[in-house]
Amino acid sequence: MAMPASTDRRLDKLIQLLIQNATVVVPGPKIASEIGVTRATVWDWIEKLRELGVEIKGLPATGYQLAKLPDVLVPALLGPELGEGEIGHKIVHYFRLDSTNAVALRMASAGARHGTVVVAEEQTAGRGRFGRTWYSEKSTGIYVSVILRPPLAPSAAPALTLMAGVAAQAAVERATGLVADIRWPNDLLLNGKKMCGILTEMSAEVDRLHAVVIGIGINVNHRGIPDELRPIATSLRIEGGKNYSRVQILAALLREIEQQYELLLREGNQAILGRWTAASSYARGKRVRVLTGSSEFHAVTSGIDPSGALRIRRDDGREESLVAGEIVELK
Ligand code: BTN
Repeated sequence: MAMPASTDRRLDKLIQLLIQNATVVVPGPKIASEIGVTRATVWDWIEKLRELGVEIKGLPATGYQLAKLPDVLVPALLGPELGEGEIGHKIVHYFRLDSTNAVALRMASAGARHGTVVVAEEQTAGRGRFGRTWYSEKSTGIYVSVILRPPLAPSAAPALTLMAGVAAQAAVERATGLVADIRWPNDLLLNGKKMCGILTEMSAEVDRLHAVVIGIGINVNHRGIPDELRPIATSLRIEGGKNYSRVQILAALLREIEQQYELLLREGNQAILGRWTAASSYARGKRVRVLTGSSEFHAVTSGIDPSGALRIRRDDGREESLVAGEIVELK
């Protein structure tokens, strides 16, 4: 299957040009000749950016000027925020996509390098855990997938999943000051409601992971949440009472993944499990309803085992490790 066409890199240049000339009106023909497209294309792209909420003043006859710094997740804006690391060395941007995880998995099987990032302003079929869909409103959230090629066995997958949660929690705190709780394995919650979900998908042989795709969805500037999700979901804007920069949050997220992933490779699972345990109120002593797909029961959490599984004690006294499934706090 052919890969969908990603955002034209010349649009990146258009944004760069507008930022570099933020204090003046840039004539349409000058933009067209500098980035190598027709004036009609410049007009089309300006309209597309406006649809995403980028405030650009001006008309084709007069020229264009940014009204304020844009918050679009394009390489031109993310690149300068990232260091020399591998995560995000290549960022593939889409305005609209079915699912960043689906495309990242296809890129991985076509040989995409470790650290390649796929990001979309909107998803039409965002995937959640357990075959659910992920609500992916245009331009308000972050929908991103990171391709990792860990030199590890498939048994490392649970630790990678926890690593992603730790990285997301740290990034949100760094970029917004909001301190989220982590619900096993890696949902982020604010005031008990979820504003970030992570779906880890992979291709592997028996003894070796080929590629791991970490898909992260963050509800950032959503003003409202659809009725059916309102009891369980929220956004950073709803909880923090103001808009946040998606560019700053995503850049922080990619930097954190770089650091936490290196820590995992260097020091092994224990370092990540320690951080996860410190950041999560669900690690110990939380009364939860456990849903495994085939069964549902009540239990109390009692730590994370060395592989990343959640230790639980059932109400009938039996202790076990939960490797997959979902938990919900019992109040
Ligand atoms: C969950 O159910 O909590 C996981 C949600 C994961 C959503 C993200 S959005 C970016 C990436 N692409 C997808 O299709 N899903 C993940």
